[in-house]
Amino acid sequence: MIDVDSLEITPATRILGEMSVPGDKAISHRLAMIGGIAEGTTLIRNFAESADCASTIECLRRLSVPIHHAGTTVTVEGRGLGALREPSQELDARNSGSTVRFMAGLISGCEFESTFVGDSSLSRRPMKRIIDPLRRFGATIEAREDNYLPLKIRGGLLTPLDFTMSIASAQLKSAVLFAGLHARGRTTVHEPIPSRNHTELALKEFGARIQTRENTIEIEGGHPLQGKEFRVPGDVSSAAFFIIAALGVPNSRLRLTNVGLNPTRSGLIHLLKQAQAKITAIPASISGSEPAGDLVIESSDVDGLDIGRDWIPSVIDEIPVLAVFATKTQHGIRIRDAAELRVKESDRIHSIATNLRALGVRSEEYPDGLFVPGRQILRGGTVDSFGDHRIAMAFAIAGLFAEDSVVIKNPGCAAVSFPSFYELLDLVKQT
Ligand code: S3P
Repeated sequence: MIDVDSLEITPATRILGEMSVPGDKAISHRLAMIGGIAEGTTLIRNFAESADCASTIECLRRLSVPIHHAGTTVTVEGRGLGALREPSQELDARNSGSTVRFMAGLISGCEFESTFVGDSSLSRRPMKRIIDPLRRFGATIEAREDNYLPLKIRGGLLTPLDFTMSIASAQLKSAVLFAGLHARGRTTVHEPIPSRNHTELALKEFGARIQTRENTIEIEGGHPLQGKEFRVPGDVSSAAFFIIAALGVPNSRLRLTNVGLNPTRSGLIHLLKQAQAKITAIPASISGSEPAGDLVIESSDVDGLDIGRDWIPSVIDEIPVLAVFATKTQHGIRIRDAAELRVKESDRIHSIATNLRALGVRSEEYPDGLFVPGRQILRGGTVDSFGDHRIAMAFAIAGLFAEDSVVIKNPGCAAVSFPSFYELLDLVKQT
């Protein structure tokens, strides 16, 4: 972890070697939470080393779930469905949207009152999207301006819901499925575009009665779940920074081992390969239902990309680093239908465009995306992380490509998802 006000990243001559990234953050959140409401013990190996997942563990402890966390192994003693206990303190999700949105679904089915709080970034992020369906299930919810933290929830007996999502959000889908687990009867969720399906896969592993047909998911509530053992694959969103580094720095060759390759998450790999990127996936045997494998990446001359509606959910977290990579492509990268970027840990469209400008790069900003033309030179300069982990890491990668050093202000927020990011970068980077 890094605890400095600013960090200088010098240009790289090659990216070389073999490495693995820590366990997937999105999967780790889900396994810990579902483990907390299952019966018996859940053992999670290769649990994400992320501050966000530590927030989930801390909140579960406040809800009286016994959890043992040693290194990357987490053991959860499940309390059973609807059996979490009233916390004596507020539930502090800090920077983690997944913690609040998923857990709000879980505690909607528990008969007590609790309040979520978070840091200044999380306190600006919209919660109305989960408040509305959870109220329809029967939970009582109060929020600042009916949309923002603090969020006070009184749970209780829930009635099942037939819910059509107006935005493609896996966090919203998961909140509804977690509440649906507690309702007596069948809850149905209709998605506009399929979003990451880690919740559905994990629930199936725990023995939930859940079915997916095209864009519709059905879950039968009121049935107990069974704890079990898991090994979390490496986080493809963390791997993305290294994939782009190896593609963009000439004469590079990098092997990333044990990366999660769930197709609802790995849009970046699929799209880049279509645009002539040299990425070879070597599938590994699947333990559990999450596909994983090794990736071999070599420096590539990439065409350009036009990314719209259908692909956005599967690349949403990778857009900052894709925007940086756009400067190295032939025809640039255009992102549309991604207005959700405006309400992430920072307004990512604004953060990306501002930082690119600081490095002498032109881009065109839209309400729902941006276009970064290709074949542009990144000058050195100073950029801001805007307190957003993925912006900090994306612009560290810009530093590898730039003519001169890039200084990142407030780089430590990378620990939200990837505390060992800068150390691992030093291991594979040649100067
Ligand atoms: C997540 C879903 C996405 C993503 C976030 C994690 C998840 O958010 O950006 O980092 O694990 O379900 P939205 O559901 O808000 O799109």
